[in-house]
Amino acid sequence: MDQPESDPAGATARDAAAEAGATPMMAQYLEVKRRHPGALLFYRMGDFFELFFEDAEVAARALDLTLTRRGKHLGADIPMCGVPVHSHEAYLLRLIRAGHRVAICDQLEDPAEAKKRGAKSVVRRDVTRVVTPGTLTEDALLDARRNNHLAALALVQGEAALAWIDMSVGSFLVQRISALADLPAALARVAPGELLIADRLLARDDLAAALADWKPALTPLPAARFDSENGRRRLETLLEVGTLDGFGAFGRAGLAAAGALVDYVALTQKGRMPRLSPPALHATDGFLEIDPATRRNLEIETTLDGARKGALLDVVDWTLTGAGARQLAADLAGPLRDTAAIDARLDLVAFFVAAGRTRADLRDALRRLPDLERALQRLTLGRGGPRDLAALRDGLGAIPAVRAMLEPGGLAATPAMLTATVAALGTHDTLVARLAAALATELPLAATDGGFVAAGFDPALDELRGLRDDGRRHVAALQARYAAATGIASLKLRHNNVLGYYIEVNAQHGEKLRGDPAYIHRQTMAGAVRFSTTELGDLEQRIVAAGERALARELEHFEALRQDAVAASAEIGAAARALARLDVAAGLAELAAARDWRRPVVDESTAFEIAGGRHPVVEAARLAAGESFVPNDCRLDADSGARLWLLTGPNMAGKSTFLRQNALIVVLAQAGSFVPAARARIGLVDRLFSRVGAADDLARGRSTFMVEMVETAAILNRAGARALVILDEIGRGTATYDGLSIAWATIEHLHEANRCRALFATHYHELTALAVRLPGLACHTMRVKEWQGDVVFLHEVAPGTADRSYGIHVAQLAGLPKPVVERARAVLATLEKRGQADGVARLAEDLPLFSAVAPPRPAAAAAAPSAVEAELRRLAPDEMSPREALEALYRLRALLTPP
Ligand SMILES: Nc1ncnc2c1ncn2[C@@H]1O[C@H](COP(=O)(O)OP(=O)(O)OP(=O)(O)O)[C@@H](O)[C@H]1O
Ligand SMILES: [Mg+2]
Repeated sequence: MDQPESDPAGATARDAAAEAGATPMMAQYLEVKRRHPGALLFYRMGDFFELFFEDAEVAARALDLTLTRRGKHLGADIPMCGVPVHSHEAYLLRLIRAGHRVAICDQLEDPAEAKKRGAKSVVRRDVTRVVTPGTLTEDALLDARRNNHLAALALVQGEAALAWIDMSVGSFLVQRISALADLPAALARVAPGELLIADRLLARDDLAAALADWKPALTPLPAARFDSENGRRRLETLLEVGTLDGFGAFGRAGLAAAGALVDYVALTQKGRMPRLSPPALHATDGFLEIDPATRRNLEIETTLDGARKGALLDVVDWTLTGAGARQLAADLAGPLRDTAAIDARLDLVAFFVAAGRTRADLRDALRRLPDLERALQRLTLGRGGPRDLAALRDGLGAIPAVRAMLEPGGLAATPAMLTATVAALGTHDTLVARLAAALATELPLAATDGGFVAAGFDPALDELRGLRDDGRRHVAALQARYAAATGIASLKLRHNNVLGYYIEVNAQHGEKLRGDPAYIHRQTMAGAVRFSTTELGDLEQRIVAAGERALARELEHFEALRQDAVAASAEIGAAARALARLDVAAGLAELAAARDWRRPVVDESTAFEIAGGRHPVVEAARLAAGESFVPNDCRLDADSGARLWLLTGPNMAGKSTFLRQNALIVVLAQAGSFVPAARARIGLVDRLFSRVGAADDLARGRSTFMVEMVETAAILNRAGARALVILDEIGRGTATYDGLSIAWATIEHLHEANRCRALFATHYHELTALAVRLPGLACHTMRVKEWQGDVVFLHEVAPGTADRSYGIHVAQLAGLPKPVVERARAVLATLEKRGQADGVARLAEDLPLFSAVAPPRPAAAAAAPSAVEAELRRLAPDEMSPREALEALYRLRALLTPP
C-alpha cells in the first residue's frame, strides 16, 4: 500500500538490508514501519502496544513513559516503551493532540495459531488503522458537543473547492470557492481538525495567509492524490452510481477535494469505509460571511484567549444532546443568508416558545438520548460494541414517544419544518424490537467479552451456556468428592489461565497426594501444592469448548445485528439529525423564554433596527453577578437616514459592548435564533466584519498596527451594500495624527464607496466634525453623569458627541499610583488650555510642552539613606550561605521603623 505521507528521514535506517540481520519479529516490525513512515507505530504484543526506536523516544517524551530497552538491532540497544491495550485510548488522545499520527498494528491471529506453524514463527500482524486528528470515532477521543471535521482543499485550473466530512457522524459536504479571498471565511466556518492539501500548494503565496490559522491541522499529500478524474471515479464507486450529475455541480476542484477525502479515509481506515452521506453541494452564497478575525473578535465559539466559557456559543447552548450541541455549533459557525431558510428555523423555535408543555416533555425525552450518530458510525466501521447496539435501541426506541408529543393538534399551527423533521424521525420498530429482544441488561464494552445476548433470545445459545455452566457446577461437585476421597477438608479446585482447573492443597497434604498416581503433580508453591487429574482435564475441555462455542454464537448474533443496523443506516442517520434539530430548536426556545429573547424579522431590505438590544454574554455575566444590563437601541437607516454611526464616549462607558451586541444579534438572527432585544428588524446581512484596533497577532509575526491595517484593508476592499461593519477604535495603534487621519479617511470611504451599514467607536472626538459633511453619518455618545467629582457610567447610547474621555478617571480606578494620576491631570489641563487657544495643530509643534509643568521631585531622592538601606548595601549575597541570608533578613526586618 502506498503512503499518504512523504517519507521522513527517520525511516531510512530501516531498509531491507537492515532487516536482514534482525530477529523474525523485528523484521516484521521494520517491514510494517517502513510502510507507515510519518506515524508512530503501536505494535501489539499481547496486552500491550509497544513502540520501538525513535517512536519509543518520541512517545516516552510526549506521554511521560519510562523508556526501556529490548534486544539489540545492528549492535545497538533497541529503545522501547509501551502502553496497555485496555487503556491505550487515553494515550492515543494525548499523542494526537500533540500533533502525532498513530498507526495501530494489531495481531491478526491468535498467538496459538502462530505456534502451530512452528516455534520460531511470528504472529501475523498488520496495521488496521491509522489514527489522525480528522479520522477519530471513539467517544473517548472526541468532544461530544463539537463536530470534528476532516477537510480537503483543492485548486484546479484556478478554481478552488473545499470538501469536508465528519467521520464520526458521516456528514459530507463540498463548497466551491469562487475567489481565493473567500477562502479564509470558508475555512473558519468549517474549522477543520485536519486539513488535507496538495504539498505543492504549501509554497503558494496567495494561500499563505488563508492557511496560516490552520498550520497545526495541515496534512500535506502528494499532488497526485488530488487528481479530479480519479476523484470522480472514487466518488462514483463510493456512491455506486454511473454519474455524479444528480448530486450537484462540484466542478473539477470539488471532485478533486472530495475524491482526495474519500481516498484518505480509505487509506487510514485500511479499506473499511465508514458510512458517508452522499456529498452535498453547499451554495457558495448560502452563508453569512464571517472572516477569521471577525469570528475571533466577536468571540463566537471561543473567547479571545481560547476559552469556551464566556463565548457566545457557551451562553446560547441550552441543548441536551451531543448531536444537538454539534448542530447548534454548526448553525452559529455558519449563519444563513436566505430569508426563507432563516424563517423556517425561526418558525420552529417560535413553535417551541409557544408550546411550553410540549417543550418540557421533549426536553425530558432528549435528556436521556444516547449519541445515535456516533454509535452507528462505530458500528459501520466495525469498531462498535454491544453498547453501541444498545444506544440504537434506546435512541430509536425513544422516537415513538417523541413523535406522539409533536403530533399536530398542539397549541400553535404546525410549522413546515416541524412536519418535515417529524417525518424524518421515521419508524424503526422492527430493529428496535430485535435489539430489545437480543440484548442483555448488563453489557460488556467489547463483543468479544461475550455475555451480551439476553437469555431466551436463542435456544441454541442457551443450551451451550447451560453446558458451560453445568461444567462449572460439576467442578463444585468434584471438589466435594475429592475432599471426601482424600480426607483433606481444605482441598480446593481452582482455575487460572496457565494451568486451567487444578487441585490445590496445603504443603503438608502435598506428600499424601504425591503418592497417589491418580493425582498428577503440576506445581509446588510456597505454601501449597497443585495437582490435576484426567477427569478434571476432560471436564475442563468440555467447559472450554462449550464456552468457546457460546461466544462464537454470540459473535454471530452481534454481526447479524450490526448488519441490520448498517442496512438501516440512512434512516438512522436521518432520525439522528432530526432529533438534533429538535434539540436545537427546543433549546433556543427554552433560552428565549427564560431570558426574554424575541423573534427577529429578517427581510430583504437593508434596514437595521434594534430596539432594546442587549449583549448576550455581558448580560448573562451581569445577571449572574446580580447586576442589570442597560438595553440600547440601534437604528442604521440605509434607505433614508444615517447608516453609519460614530460612537464617542468615555472609557468604560460601554462602546465596545454596544458595537458587539449588534453584530451578535445579526449572527443569532441569521442562525435562526431569537435575539436579546425587544424588537429587531434586520435586512439580510451578507458579510459581517468586526475589528478592534491594536489587537496583537504576534503568533503570526505581525505587529499590532500592521494587523489592524491588514484587517481594515480587508473590510474596505470587501464590504458591499449588504455588509455590516463594526470598527472599534481603528487607528489607535499609531501616532495620534496618523491614526486620526486613517480613521477619518476610513469613515469617508465607508460612507462614499462601501455604502454599507457601520458602527464606528472612537476616542478621536475630532471625527465628529465629519457629521456635517456626510449626510449618512450620525453621531452618538455614551451618557455619563458627573456626580460629586466622580463619574457615573449610565451605559446609555444617546444622540450627540462626547466632550471628553475620562481616561484619567479610569486610570485612577485601575490603581495607577497617585502621583502619576495627579501628574496626568496637570498635563491634561495644560494640553487642553493650549488646545482651546490654537487647535490641536499646535500640539505637535509644541514639543517643549512638558517643561511648562515642573516634574514633581521624587520625595525619597533628597532624604539620607535609611538604616535598612545602609544595611542592605552592606550585604554580599554571593558570599552568603542560606542560613546567613535568613539571618540577614531577620536583621533587616528588625531595622524597620515601626509604622
Ligand atoms: N449596556 C450596559 N449595561 C450595563 N453594563 C454595561 C453595559 N455596557 C457595558 N457595560 C459594562 O461596562 C464595561 C465596559 O464596557 P466596554 O468595554 O464596552 O467600554 P468601552 O466604552 O468600550 O471602553 P474603552 O473606551 O475603554 O474601550 C463592560 O465590561 C460591562 O461590564
Ligand atoms: Mg472599547
